[in-house]
Amino acid sequence: MVNDNDNINVAVTGACGRMGGMIIENIVKTDNMQLSAAFDINNIGKDAGEMAHVDVLGVTVSDANDIKTVLTETNTDVLIDFTIAPATVVNAPAAAECGVNLIIGTTGFTEQQRAAIDDAILKNNVAAVISPNYSVGVNVFFNILKEAARSLSDYDIEIIEAHHNQKKDAPSGTAMKAADVISETLGGKEYVYGRNGLVPRGKEIGIHAVRGGDIVGDHTVLFAGNGERVEIKHQAHSRQAFAGGAVKAAAWICNAKPGIYTMDDILGF
Ligand SMILES: NC(=O)c1ccc[n+]([C@@H]2O[C@H](COP(=O)([O-])OP(=O)(O)OC[C@H]3O[C@@H](n4cnc5c(N)ncnc54)[C@H](O)[C@@H]3O)[C@@H](O)[C@H]2O)c1
Repeated sequence: MVNDNDNINVAVTGACGRMGGMIIENIVKTDNMQLSAAFDINNIGKDAGEMAHVDVLGVTVSDANDIKTVLTETNTDVLIDFTIAPATVVNAPAAAECGVNLIIGTTGFTEQQRAAIDDAILKNNVAAVISPNYSVGVNVFFNILKEAARSLSDYDIEIIEAHHNQKKDAPSGTAMKAADVISETLGGKEYVYGRNGLVPRGKEIGIHAVRGGDIVGDHTVLFAGNGERVEIKHQAHSRQAFAGGAVKAAAWICNAKPGIYTMDDILGF
C-alpha cells in the first residue's frame, strides 16, 4: 500500500515497444509517480527515457532475465506489462513473487498461460488489473454491447476488428472480450473465425481480423436482422487511449486489496 504522499515506483516490461514508450511518457507526466525500472530484450543498457523519446531519465533498460533482482533493488510498487504472451507468462509471476502489483495489457494468452498468471497473482497475494483494452471508450463500448445483445438477441452478430500490420496475435484481445461479453449476456454462443468455402450461417458469433498499415485499433460489432442492421463501433486514434488508462490503473492498484481486477473496477462501471 502506497501512502498519498509517497511516490509510486512503476516499472515497465516491453519498455522499448510501441506501448512501452508511450507508457513511460505517461508515467513521467504523472504526479507522484516515477519510472523505477524498465525491461526489454532489446536495447539493454540504454536510457529508457531516450528510447521512449522523452528526456534522459537515468533509468537504463534492464535485461528481462534480471527482473526479480532489479524489481527488488528498485523498490518497485507496480509493473506495467505490454509485451507478448510467452514473455508475460514468465515476467508476471516473477514480479508477483517479489510482491509487485501488476497492470497487464498484453493480449493473446492461451487458457493455460492465463491460468498460470492468475495463479501466481493469487498465490503471492498481490493485486493486478488484466485488461485486453485500457481505453475508457472501449470499456463503455463493452457495456453498450451488453445492452444491444439483450435487445437484438435474435440478430446475426459479427465482430470485425482491424489493426496495424505488426500486430502479432489475432483476433485481438478486445474482439475476444467483445465476443465474451455478448456470449455471456446471451447465455453462451459458439464462435466462428473467418469463413471460407461452404459455411452456412448458424447462431454463432462471427469474428474477423483485418491487418494493415498503421491502424491503431478498430472494432465493429454488427447486429444484422431482416431489413436493418445496427453497427456499434470503437476506433482508437492513438495509443494514448490505452497508455493513459494503464497508468491510471497503476495509480489505482496501489490502494487495492489483493486480487484480479478489470477496467470496470477502475472506471466504476
Ligand atoms: N490492453 C491494451 O489496451 C493494449 C493496447 C495496445 C496493445 N496491447 C498489447 O500489448 C502488447 C504489446 O504491444 P506493442 O504494440 O507495444 O508491441 P511491440 O512489439 O511494439 O512491443 C513489445 C515489446 O516487448 C519486448 N519484449 C519481448 N519479449 C520480452 C521479454 N521477455 N521481456 C521484456 N520485454 C520483452 C519487445 O522487445 C518489444 O520492445 C501486445 O500483446 C498488444 O496486443 C494491449
